[in-house]
Amino acid sequence: MNLDGPRHVHAWAPGRVNLIGDHTDYTGGLALPMAIQLGVSIEAARVPSNSIELVSDLGGASVSEPCVVEIGTPTSAATGWARYVAAVAHEARPSIGLRGTVRSTLPAGSGLSSSAALEIAVFLALTGHQPTSPAEQLGVALACQAAEHSATGVPCGLLDQLAILGGRSECATVVDAFARTATPVPMPAGLAVWVIHSGVARTLETSAYAQRRAECEAAEARIGPLRLAAPADAEALSDPVLRRRARHVVSENQRVRSYVEELQRSSGPDIEALGALSVESHRSLADDFAVSSPVLDELVDALLTQPGVTGARLTGAGFGGCVLAIGTPELDLVEFAAARSLPAWRMRPSAGAHVAIASVREG
Ligand code: GLA
Repeated sequence: MNLDGPRHVHAWAPGRVNLIGDHTDYTGGLALPMAIQLGVSIEAARVPSNSIELVSDLGGASVSEPCVVEIGTPTSAATGWARYVAAVAHEARPSIGLRGTVRSTLPAGSGLSSSAALEIAVFLALTGHQPTSPAEQLGVALACQAAEHSATGVPCGLLDQLAILGGRSECATVVDAFARTATPVPMPAGLAVWVIHSGVARTLETSAYAQRRAECEAAEARIGPLRLAAPADAEALSDPVLRRRARHVVSENQRVRSYVEELQRSSGPDIEALGALSVESHRSLADDFAVSSPVLDELVDALLTQPGVTGARLTGAGFGGCVLAIGTPELDLVEFAAARSLPAWRMRPSAGAHVAIASVREG
């Protein structure tokens, strides 16, 4: 590629909070994520070389090392966060290199898609191309999902990537993982969305994520696709573990439909009803899908006692990480979180990932 003089690239990828619909995507189900104002940005020079050199202020021991990746070397040769960069470079097959800085306002390992945001920001910085059509966005999502698989070995679905690429300001996104579509749905101003970090970081590589996916596949081998199954189909499973896993997925898909219907109600959503769906979702993830923890359960219960909170649930894969609370517009959980020395954010629905290239004058 003729770079036509040095060029500077700015890439941004938001994190996401999942309002409802967890552990549904890898069986082709439904989810309702929202791209948020926290994310990963890259400022870099696009250089005619075969290497990517990025320093980071991502913070934390595991990411304080600069990342140097020779494009084309196998992902397995990289360590730390360079694995993600190497895996994306393998998928993007760029004809340029990068020298620059990665910054993140997203807590890592907390269920807010920090790794997917990093991968998508790197992909966009390497290609310099803004994916605008749904087909282009799906192409980037699939490439970055493949990168996540090879960097971590975690068989994640497409929820995070479609949420990050398909985000629109003031909207949440209905992800249909079977149709592989991301459809914006306006978020009402009267609904506050808060996220509280439980203080327990988690890594999906050492979690039961892959086991849960295998259990869903085992259930599907008996009763067919869970996205099409009725509650009675799940209850007919003789294996008690598979029955509970299937019950979660079937009921969670239905809760996503109900939540979206509520958001689209012309008179505005009933935020008590949205809260009730959130609590049902958490109980299902905890009791039937077994991806919660005593710390997350306690945090959800404590949040439900707070004035203005109508619902709370774990968000993302679980096993630690963040809890989501929704409620009335004036809801403020800063003091609640401060009393527990936990980080908290009021999340705003944000636009999706973007990239811009500018020529840089030399001298
Ligand atoms: C992680 C995965 C997603 C999805 C969620 C759980 O975020 O990356 O694909 O499975 O967990 O809903």
